[in-house]
Amino acid sequence: MSLNKLIDSLSTQGWYVWDDFLNLSEIQAIKSCIPEKLHDARIGNGESLQDNKTIRGDQTIWLESEMGAPIAEYMAKMDVIRQALNQQCYMGLRDFETHFCRYPNGAFYKKHVDNFQGQGRRKVTTVLYMNEAWQRGDGGELVVYDHQDNKLFQLDPLAGRMIVFMSEEFPHEVLPTQQKRESIAGWFLTEKIL
Ligand code: OGA
Ligand code: MN
Repeated sequence: MSLNKLIDSLSTQGWYVWDDFLNLSEIQAIKSCIPEKLHDARIGNGESLQDNKTIRGDQTIWLESEMGAPIAEYMAKMDVIRQALNQQCYMGLRDFETHFCRYPNGAFYKKHVDNFQGQGRRKVTTVLYMNEAWQRGDGGELVVYDHQDNKLFQLDPLAGRMIVFMSEEFPHEVLPTQQKRESIAGWFLTEKIL
């Protein structure tokens, strides 16, 4: 079962790729709950939107269960994972925050770390891809590095695939996309959201 593989893989190598985490009809149902108008993504404090756009070009919207049953079901699945990681790996994950991301043609997200060692509440990152018509050459691949800047692997953002990794351990980037690219990023947190 993939939940066991996730737990094994996360605790040994620090990451796991879960293909077909959701099927295409589940992906389409989630998309139907997303409003047309999203917000320019923000990064740390004190960055102007202009500076920001040289780092990331996606638009996002935070997800809440109230946005529809498909979103609530996704959240429930993620909570099963949270509880399993707590029971079997003692990760102390107390909450989950998640947003939908849309990268227009040409957008990218430069190499970054989601959480620097001990500085924040993000412990485990998840990214679920939603691109049903993805072709090799469309760009928008996720590239994952170690802290020595060795490239570890590269991933096509295929619909239904979810990557899970330890937030502090893996710098990563999104290469420029040649198509609209949609995903849901999430973070298991060591603190409760107030
Ligand atoms: C992020 C991120 C990666 C991806 O939103 O922090 O790195 O593949 N996303 O979308
Ligand atoms: Mn990231």
